[in-house]
Amino acid sequence: MYHQQLDDFPENFLWGAASAAYQIEGAYQEDGKGISIWDTYAHTPGNTYQGTTGDVAIDHYHHLEEDVALMAKMGLKAYRFSVAWSRIIPDGEGTVNEAGLDFYRRLIHELRKNKIEPVLTLYHWDLPQALQDKYAGWESRQTIVAFKKYCEVLFKAFKDDVKYWVTFNEQNVFTSMGYRWGTHPPKLKNIKKMYEANHIINLANAEAINLFHELVPKGLIGPSFGYGPVYPLTGDPQDVLASVNADDFNNNWWLDVYCRGEYPYFMLKQLQKAKIAPNITEADRKLLKSAKPDFLGINYYHGGTVQTNRLEKQAETANQKDFSATDPYLMQPEADQAQSPEIPMFNSVSSPYLAKTEWGWEIDPIGFRIALRQVYEKYRLPIFVTENGLGAMDKLEDGQIHDSYRIKYLQEHLLAMKEAITDGVEMIGYCAWSFTDLLSWLNGYRKRYGFVYIDRDDNGERTQQRIPKDSFKWYQKIIAENGKQI
Ligand code: BG6
Repeated sequence: MYHQQLDDFPENFLWGAASAAYQIEGAYQEDGKGISIWDTYAHTPGNTYQGTTGDVAIDHYHHLEEDVALMAKMGLKAYRFSVAWSRIIPDGEGTVNEAGLDFYRRLIHELRKNKIEPVLTLYHWDLPQALQDKYAGWESRQTIVAFKKYCEVLFKAFKDDVKYWVTFNEQNVFTSMGYRWGTHPPKLKNIKKMYEANHIINLANAEAINLFHELVPKGLIGPSFGYGPVYPLTGDPQDVLASVNADDFNNNWWLDVYCRGEYPYFMLKQLQKAKIAPNITEADRKLLKSAKPDFLGINYYHGGTVQTNRLEKQAETANQKDFSATDPYLMQPEADQAQSPEIPMFNSVSSPYLAKTEWGWEIDPIGFRIALRQVYEKYRLPIFVTENGLGAMDKLEDGQIHDSYRIKYLQEHLLAMKEAITDGVEMIGYCAWSFTDLLSWLNGYRKRYGFVYIDRDDNGERTQQRIPKDSFKWYQKIIAENGKQI
């Protein structure tokens, strides 16, 4: 589809930027805050890049007014942030900490005063440590009860001031990192537990949405999913089939549950055969069906390319060997097959067509348009892009940051989004990741994403001075013109 002329962005399009509590706030023990699993994880040697933590982060907790003033200067229409559960309920399920609520009250008040729409994420990975210790966190249905209570506190406190709410940030990422790869807390490599915990989080998501619709009838709520389109490496039907598998495995497994209230049929069947499917009761099925998100948050960084899996090929030659008879854990594949170790459905490979960032992430703006089209076609929910951006090692030169590479990246992605809108995708807004530089969970402070440079690095807190980058001015203009000229 080629458009000679692109449609305008909708009039009230929410031009925004995003962040997450652990990555910016710091003050990790102040005003009654409890410890989160990320506090514990980052304090354990060997878990993060050079032992970096969010103890101080970019000290947003003490720079709140200054940071919002910069957002206002930029002309932001929306700001997405997350609430640290352990600030609100330090042990996850007990007494509410008023001082924690006050911090977010102040933030929301400042945003509203400056006509910036707050977009509140309920869960961006920092589970209270107490719930991990007591219930093994998301492995237990007790954590759903605690999450509901936490949500209720926030819904009641902010129902008149916050219209847009995000339930879970990238459930696909934090469950995979936490339970498959063992690189996030709780640092396990246990596929069975991963599917079980993931199911419990699905139930928590559904409970939160239903409660929200009861308590905040004028608000809008949805999950933010880390979505990437899947490409077959070649036109060989074997590779195409692998891409269908990978799409089920990487995307539909979560999105179908969120948007259709049921697990994708083929994938569930595979997991049942391999004896690693979650335990789903009749009541669970009903609950999942009953909860309908109002929009779908999409975090887009890149897609993925796949080819047919060698193990699958071998299996075919061995006369359709039945994988259910095999212990899934024995199917540990070679490195390049690592995407679906439990069932050999596809191999992930590098795309020969795409350039990469300094951290090896593929740069694929067309994939962004494809992503928006695919998701909208399938689920027909308005889309809110809740993250998209470029991590790079910015250099401060004479007090300035000339991040032309970031401008180029964002420009190409905004153009792709404008094309998707012209194609017909219904969109609420776009939050670039991120407003200020912040802590990258595993990559420290040198992987910078912000429009605003923060004078701190992996070795220390330095001055914490805020310095707008070239991209700040560029985005300011885009917003002022409502994306007329990208
Ligand atoms: C998303 C997360 O996965 O990607 C963010 O929601 C994260 O919290 C962002 O920071 C970028 O990832 P990274 O690893 O480059 O910091």
